[in-house]
Amino acid sequence: METLGDWKRSCYCGEVSSSHIGNELTLMGWVQRRRDHGGVVFIDLRDREGLVQLVFNPEDNPDLHARAHDLRSEFVLAVKGSVRTRPEGTINTDLKTGEVEVVVSELRLLNDSAPIPFMIEDSAEITENTRLKYRYLDLRRPGLQSKLILRHKVAMATRNFLSENGFLEIETPVLTKSTPEGARDFLVPSRLSAGHFFALPQSPQIFKQLLMVSGFDRYFQVVKCFRDEDLRADRQPEFTQIDAEMSFVEADDVIAIMEGLVASIFKEVGAELNTPFARLTYADAIARYGLDAPDTRFGLELVDVTGIVEGSGFKVFKDAATSGGLVKVISVPGGAAFSRKDLDVLTELATTYGAKGLAWVKITQDGWQSPIAKFMSDEEKAAIAEAAGAAVGDLLLFGADKPFVANTVLGRVRLNVGERLGLIPKDGFNFVWVTDFPMFEYDEGERRHVAVHHPFTAPNDEDVEKLTTDPGNVNAKAYDLVLNGVEIGGGSIRIHRSEVQSTVFDLLGIEKQEADERFGFLLEALKFGTPPHGGIAFGLDRIITIMTGSESIRDVIAFPKTQKATCMMSEAPSTVDKKQLDELFIRVAKKGVEKSPDKTDKKS
Ligand code: AMO
Ligand code: AMP
Repeated sequence: METLGDWKRSCYCGEVSSSHIGNELTLMGWVQRRRDHGGVVFIDLRDREGLVQLVFNPEDNPDLHARAHDLRSEFVLAVKGSVRTRPEGTINTDLKTGEVEVVVSELRLLNDSAPIPFMIEDSAEITENTRLKYRYLDLRRPGLQSKLILRHKVAMATRNFLSENGFLEIETPVLTKSTPEGARDFLVPSRLSAGHFFALPQSPQIFKQLLMVSGFDRYFQVVKCFRDEDLRADRQPEFTQIDAEMSFVEADDVIAIMEGLVASIFKEVGAELNTPFARLTYADAIARYGLDAPDTRFGLELVDVTGIVEGSGFKVFKDAATSGGLVKVISVPGGAAFSRKDLDVLTELATTYGAKGLAWVKITQDGWQSPIAKFMSDEEKAAIAEAAGAAVGDLLLFGADKPFVANTVLGRVRLNVGERLGLIPKDGFNFVWVTDFPMFEYDEGERRHVAVHHPFTAPNDEDVEKLTTDPGNVNAKAYDLVLNGVEIGGGSIRIHRSEVQSTVFDLLGIEKQEADERFGFLLEALKFGTPPHGGIAFGLDRIITIMTGSESIRDVIAFPKTQKATCMMSEAPSTVDKKQLDELFIRVAKKGVEKSPDKTDKKS
C-alpha cells in the first residue's frame, strides 16, 4: 500500500471533460470496475461526482499495466495521467465524462477492499436488510448520493431564504421535558438526578414559543425530533423538521412567507411553483376526500347520500343514516368491469380501516348488479346515481358508519382505486393548505377532548367564547400543508395569554397540578408580556422523499432505522453493562430483555 504523499487532486473524477484534453491530472477515487481484454486494461474510477475511464496500455508501461491487472472493485487509488479524446466509436454518451479517457502514467494504491457484498450500482438488486447492514456501501451508490446531495441543497436553500427574511437559527435543547405532540416520548435517565428522566423533544414547540417571549421575533431551526410511534413508510423515530416561529403575525402571514420558503426549496429540483397555493377547509377536505391530508390530484370525490337512504330497505344504510352516521359513495368510472377479486381486495382494505363491509353496485344496461340491489327502491337507486354522477359501466362503492369511519374508509378506498386506475399524475407537485381545523376531537375511549393539533394552538377569535360552552364547535387557527396527499407541514397561531392556555388545558382534562408540573414554566412565561405569535414545522425527510420520487423515507436519510426502530448496521438499540444501569439506578425487568428487537430481527 502506498501513501498519498504530496499528491493533490486536480478535480473530481466525474468532472473530467473535453476542456481537460492534453492536461496532466491527478485523480482519486474507487475502482468501479476493471475491464481486462488481455491487452489494454480499462478501469472506471468513481467518486461522488461520477466515473472516469482510466487506460493502462501494456506497450506504454508494462509494470503499471501489470499492477492495474491486479486492481479489484472498491480499491482506493490515486493516479496521474493525461486526458485524451476517446477513439472514434468508443464515445459513451450515457456517461458525463464519456468523451474522454485518462492515460495513466503513475499509480498509488491507497487501500484495498474486501470483496463487497453487492455491486455499487443503482441497478443492483439488494434486499433492504443487506443495504442497511452495509449502509456505508449502500451510500456509495450514485442514486443515494444524489438524494443526500439534494437534501443538503434544500437545507442550504432553507437557511438562505429564512435568514434573508430575518429568521435567526437558534438551537434548543435535546435533553428536555415531554412535549405534547401526541406520540410516546423517548426517555433518557438522569444519573445526577436518580429516578428522573429527560424526554427527547418530539419537537421544539415550547422552546420556540419561549424564544418569542424573549423577543427574538423570528426563529428557525433545522432540527432533529424524536417520536416513539408505530412506523410507516413516511415515518421515522428520529426525523428532521424545518421548524419556524414568528411574532406579531396571523395565519395568513405565516402561510405567505412559508409559501416563499417552499417555492425556493423546490427551485432545487427545477420546479417553478405557483403561489399562493390552493386552500381547503378541514371540513371540505373530509367531506370531499375523506382524509385530512387530501390528494387533490384526481377526482373520484366522496358524495354524501345519507339523506337519500334514511328510509332505505337496506338496514345497514338506514341504521347509519338515522343514528348520526353517514352513508357516502364514490363512483368509479368504468368500474363495472372490476372482478370479484378486485372487489374482495377493496373490501379487505376497507375493513383494515374499520369498515364492517364495502357495499358495491355495478351499473349495467340492465340496472343495478349488486348484493344490495334487492333492498333498494327505484327512486333511491335513481337519486343515488344522480348524486354520484354515475352512468352505465360505473361502479359505486359505499361506506356506511360513524362519520369518521365512513370518511376514512372511503378516503382510503378512493386512493387505492385512483392508483389502480392510473388516475394519479406521477409528475408534478400538488400543494394544498388545509385550514380551519377543529380545536378538539372527542376521544371515545378516554371520554375526553383531545387537541387536534397540540394544546398550544389558538382558537379562532370568534370562537373564544365557545371554549367553555361548546368546545366541540371551536375551530383553531391551525393549518397543514399537504403535498401530493402527504402532510408535509403543520402549524398554528398560538395561545399567547396565560389564562386562555389554562382554560384549554382544563378542557383537555389536564388537571391544574399536572399542567403546572408539565407546563408550569410556559404558563408562567406567558404572563410576562408574550407577543402574539405562530409558526409551522415542515417534515424535511418527507419533502425530500417526494422531491426525489423515493418509495421510502429511509432512502433520504443517511442512517435510517428499520420499521422496528432498530439500526441494522450498529445494532442499536442494545443492552448495556450492569455498571451503567447501576449508575442510573435502573433495573431491567426480564421480559424487557427478551423482547429486545435486536434479538427478534436476527435469524441465525
Ligand atoms: P407536527 O407534529 O405536525 O407539528 O410535525 C410537523 C411535520 O413533521 C413531519 N413529521 C414526521 N416526519 C417523519 N417521521 C415522523 N415520525 C414525523 N412526524 C411528523 C410531518 C409533519 O407535518 N410543533 C408542531 C409544529 C408547529 O405547530 O409549529 C409539530 O411538530 O411532515
Ligand atoms: P350484508 O347484508 O351484511 O351481506 O352486506 C351486504 C353488503 O353491504 C356487502 O357487500 C357488505 O360488504 C356491505 N356492507 C356491510 N356493512 C357495511 C357498511 N357498514 N358500510 C358499507 N358497506 C357495508
